[in-house]
Amino acid sequence: MVLNQSSFWTQANALFRKSLTFQKRNVKTNVRLILLPLILCVLLVLLQNLIDYLNDKTTVFKCGCVCPNQRETCDDSEKLCGVQYSDQTQAIFCKIPNPPEWPPLLQLPAVSCKKNQSCPFSMLFTAENQSFAQIVSDNMFPSAPTVDFSDIMASFYTNVLGSASLPGTTNFLEPGFTPDVPVYYLQTQCPQNNSGISFPYKIKGKTIQLDIRCGQGINFWRNSSDDINNEIYQSYKRKKSEGRINAIITAFDFLNSNDDAFDVTVWYNGTKKKGDVLSRVPRSINLISNAYLQFLCGPGTKMLFEFVKEMPKSETSYRINIASLLGGLFFTWVILQLFPVVLTSLVYEKEHKLRIMMKMHGLGDGPYWMITYGYFLVLSMIYMLCFVIFGSVLGLKFFTLNDYSIQFVFYFIYINLQISLAFLLSSVFSNVMTATVTAYMGVFGTGILSGVLFQSFIEDSSFPRKWLICMELYPGFALYRGLWEFSQSASMGTDGMRWRDLSNSTNGMKEVLIIMFVEWTVFLFVAYYIDQVLSTGSRKSPLFFLKGFQKKHLSSFKTKISIQRQGSNVLAHTGKPDVIQEREKVEQLLLQPTINHAIVCDDLKKFYPGRDGNPGKFAVKELFLAVPRGVCFGMLGPNGAGKTSFISMMIGLTKPSSGVAYVEGLDIRTHMDAIYTSMGVCPQHDLLWESLTGREHLLFYGRLKNLKGSALTQAVEESLKSLNLFHGGVADKKAGKYSGGMKRRLSVAISLIGDPKVVYMDEPSSGLDPASRKCLWNAIRLAKRDRAIILTTHSMEEAEALCDRLGIFVDGSLQCIGNPKELKARYGGTYVFTMTTSSDHEKGVENMVRKLTPNANKIYHLSGTQKFELPKEEVKIANVFQAVEVAKRNFTVFAWGLADTTLEDVFIKVARNAQAFDTWS
Ligand SMILES: *[C@@H]1O[C@H](CO)[C@@H](O)[C@H](O)[C@H]1NC(C)=O
Ligand SMILES: *[C@@H]1O[C@H](CO)[C@@H](O)[C@H](O)[C@H]1NC(C)=O
Ligand SMILES: *[C@@H]1O[C@H](CO)[C@@H](O)[C@H](O)[C@H]1NC(C)=O
Repeated sequence: MVLNQSSFWTQANALFRKSLTFQKRNVKTNVRLILLPLILCVLLVLLQNLIDYLNDKTTVFKCGCVCPNQRETCDDSEKLCGVQYSDQTQAIFCKIPNPPEWPPLLQLPAVSCKKNQSCPFSMLFTAENQSFAQIVSDNMFPSAPTVDFSDIMASFYTNVLGSASLPGTTNFLEPGFTPDVPVYYLQTQCPQNNSGISFPYKIKGKTIQLDIRCGQGINFWRNSSDDINNEIYQSYKRKKSEGRINAIITAFDFLNSNDDAFDVTVWYNGTKKKGDVLSRVPRSINLISNAYLQFLCGPGTKMLFEFVKEMPKSETSYRINIASLLGGLFFTWVILQLFPVVLTSLVYEKEHKLRIMMKMHGLGDGPYWMITYGYFLVLSMIYMLCFVIFGSVLGLKFFTLNDYSIQFVFYFIYINLQISLAFLLSSVFSNVMTATVTAYMGVFGTGILSGVLFQSFIEDSSFPRKWLICMELYPGFALYRGLWEFSQSASMGTDGMRWRDLSNSTNGMKEVLIIMFVEWTVFLFVAYYIDQVLSTGSRKSPLFFLKGFQKKHLSSFKTKISIQRQGSNVLAHTGKPDVIQEREKVEQLLLQPTINHAIVCDDLKKFYPGRDGNPGKFAVKELFLAVPRGVCFGMLGPNGAGKTSFISMMIGLTKPSSGVAYVEGLDIRTHMDAIYTSMGVCPQHDLLWESLTGREHLLFYGRLKNLKGSALTQAVEESLKSLNLFHGGVADKKAGKYSGGMKRRLSVAISLIGDPKVVYMDEPSSGLDPASRKCLWNAIRLAKRDRAIILTTHSMEEAEALCDRLGIFVDGSLQCIGNPKELKARYGGTYVFTMTTSSDHEKGVENMVRKLTPNANKIYHLSGTQKFELPKEEVKIANVFQAVEVAKRNFTVFAWGLADTTLEDVFIKVARNAQAFDTWS
C-alpha cells in the first residue's frame, strides 16, 4: 500500500503558512514588536535634542562667554570664555582658556561662629629655642586689616584669609568664594563689634557678594611636638558640652631653627570628604616662611603669595551622547523583548497539546524544527533590522558609527542564541501564564542587574577579567557587554568599532561573540535532545542517537515474543466465541502476503509496571482486532477499561508492551511517522488554536495531508458544509469564540480532512445538542464509506447509530465483539416487562407473569413497580397483551410496558458478567 505521504517541503509549507496566519492574528504582539524599538529610538532622539537644547539655550548648561570690551555681539572666535564669565557654575565640558585667579586661602577648621562674636582660631607651635619661635610666630597675623578698596586683590593677599569650606578638586572655582560661606581674615585682635564686612567683589566679568569676618588668630606655645600631637588628637574627642577650646588651624614645629637655618614641620588637616580634594597647605607654608623672613629682614619685608590659578583647559566632549549613555540598558531591553514572544508561543503549543496534534496529523520533527526555528529567526531578524534602521535613520551614533558588519554578526548570533534558549526553556514550562510572567521578569531583571551591577564590574578595571567572562556565560550579560562595547566605541570620540578593534585586549567583543556562538550550538543541541526524549508524543529512548548499537538487542526481544505467543495459544477464551473468532481471523489475515485491512491488532498488550508498592497492571491484554475499510468500529466499556490505553498505542503516544498492530499494513512500532500521514484523530478535548479560524485550521491540516490548490479549497469547503460550519460566517470566526459544540464539530472535521485511511474519534459527540449531534452523525456516516473509523463513546444511541461493529471492553480485554443486532440477540434474547400496581397486588402480577412463562426472571422490584425478563422464544407478544387485559379487570394497573432489550442492557450485562468472573477467578 503506497501512502500519499506529504513531502518535507509540503509539511514545512503548511506549517509556515499557519505560523504566518497565527502571527497576523496576534495584532497586539506585532504592534508591540514594531513600536517598541521605534518608540525607544524616538525617545532617545528626543532626549538628545532636549539635552542639546539645554546645552545651547539655558544657563544651566551654558558655557560662560562674553564679547570683549562689553560689546553686545561678536564672532565666536573672539569670545572670552570661562567660568569667570558665567555664573558660578559652568558645565564641565566648557573650555576655560584663561582660568580666573583666586586669593590663596588658609584651611580653617569648621566652627560655628555667630555674627558679632569674636571667632578664635588657635595655632600651636614648638621649637628648641622658645624665644626664637615666639618672635617668628608673632609675625604671622597682622594686628589690623589693611584693606585697599581700589585694589581688592592686593588686600586679599596682604591679609590672612581663610575658609572653613572644603576645597574643590580643581582651582577653576574656589568654593570659599561662594555666597553664604564666610571668609575670615585672621588677625591678632578683632574689633569689639565683629559685624564683618560685606562688599561686592568682581573677578573679571564676575561679581560676587563677599562676606568677610574677622577671626582671631592666637599662637600657643607647647613644650613638645608630642604635646601638639596629643592636643590635636584630643580635640577630636572633645564633646561640645565640655566647651570648645579654640579650634586649631595648624601647628608648627620649628625644630632647631635659628637665625641661620630655617627648618619647620607643618601640621595640616588632610582628611578629605570627597575623593580628590586639593588641600589648602600652600598658604600656611607661605605664612610661616613670610614670618621668618620678617624676623630676618624686618617687618617691611614681604614674600607675597598673590593668587592661585588653574591650568587652562580646552573644551572636553561637548555634547552628552544620550544613546551611548543609556543605550546599553535601553537596547538590552529592546532585544530581550523578543525572548518572551518566542517562549510564550512555544509553550502555548505545548500547553494546548497542539504539537502532538500536528504530529498525529503527519507533521514530522524535521519540518517542525526547521520551520519553527526559521520562523522565529526571520521574525527576530526583521525586528532587529527595524531597530537598526530606525536608529540609523534617526541618526543615533550608536548605530551609525560602529561597523554594520560587526553589528550584524553580533545581533545575528545573539538572536539565534535567544531562540535556542527559548526552545530549551520551553521544555521546563507547561503553562503560558507562568512562562510569560517568568520571561518578562527575567527581561527586566536582566536589564536592571546588568545596568547596575554588571556595568560597574565592566568599568572597574581591577575586577578580574575571568570572572567577567564567567558572568558573560549568562546570555543577558553577554548581550549587555556587547552593547556596552558598541556604545563605548561610539561615545568616546572615536570613530566607532571596526573589525581590527576586536584584537584589542581591552575590547570584550571577541569573547562575547565566541561565548554566544558556543552557547547557541550547545543550547540548540540540548533543546533538540530534550525534545526528542522527554516531550510527550515522542517514543524515543534517551539514547536514541545510539540506534545502531541497539539493533541486536531488538531482535532477541522479538524471538522472546514469538515463544510467548505459542504459550498463550493454550489459554482458551472460554465462553467468548466471537472473541476467539476474531482472533482466528487476525491470524488468517497475517498469513496473507499483504494485509488489506485498515487496522489489524495482533495480540496487543500494554502493561503498566507497579509503582509505589502497587502491583503492575495490564491496561490492555491479548487484543486481537481486524477492522476493514468502510467500517466504523465502536468501542464501549466502562471508565478505566483500557480504551484510552488502546487508542494511545494506536496513535503513537505510547508503545505497546508486546504484540503489534498494523495500520494500512504498516507496523506501528516502526513506521509511525508514515502512519501519521494517513491518520486522523479527534481527541477527547479539542486541541485548537484560539486565534485561528475554523477554515484556517482545516487549510493547515489539509496541507499537512498533502492537499494542494483547488483540491484543498474544495475539501475544506465540503468539510465545513458537511459539519454545518459553513453558514453564518462560522468558518471565518476565530476558534476561541466558538461554542463547545462548534469546537467539537471542527475537531471532527480536522480528523476527517485529507482523506485519512484510519480515523480515531474519542467521544466525538460529547457536549453536543441533539441537532448538532444528528449533523455530526451524518458526516461520520458519509465519511466511513472508504475508511476505517475507531470510535469510543458512552452513548449507546451513538454506537447503534454509527457503528457497524461493536466491541465491549472490560478490564483490558474484549468481552464480546459483533454488530449491534447480533449482540442484542445474543446477550439480550429477552423482553423486559414492566408493570406498576399498588403494592397489594404485587403477588397477582407475579402470578400472571409466571403463567406466561415459568422461566421469567424478576430483575427489579420497588414499591409496586416490578420488572421481569421474559425469554423471547417462550413468550408471544399477543399473549402478553391478553394477560394484561385480564389483569386490568382484576386490579388497577397504573402503568405497564413491554420492551425489547436495548444495547444498554447488553452493555450492563456484559460488564457485570466480566467483573463477576474477574472477582471469582
Ligand atoms: C634663641 O634665639 C634668640 C633669638 O634669635 C637668640 O638670641 C638666642 O641666642 C637663642 N638661644 C640659643 C640657646 O640658641
Ligand atoms: C612646659 O615646661 C614648663 C617648664 O619646663 C613647665 O612649667 C610647664 O608645665 C610645661 N607645660 C606642659 C603643658 O607640660
Ligand atoms: C579635619 O578635617 C575633617 C574634615 O574636614 C574634620 O572632620 C576634622 O574635624 C578636622 N580635624 C581637626 C583636628 O580639625
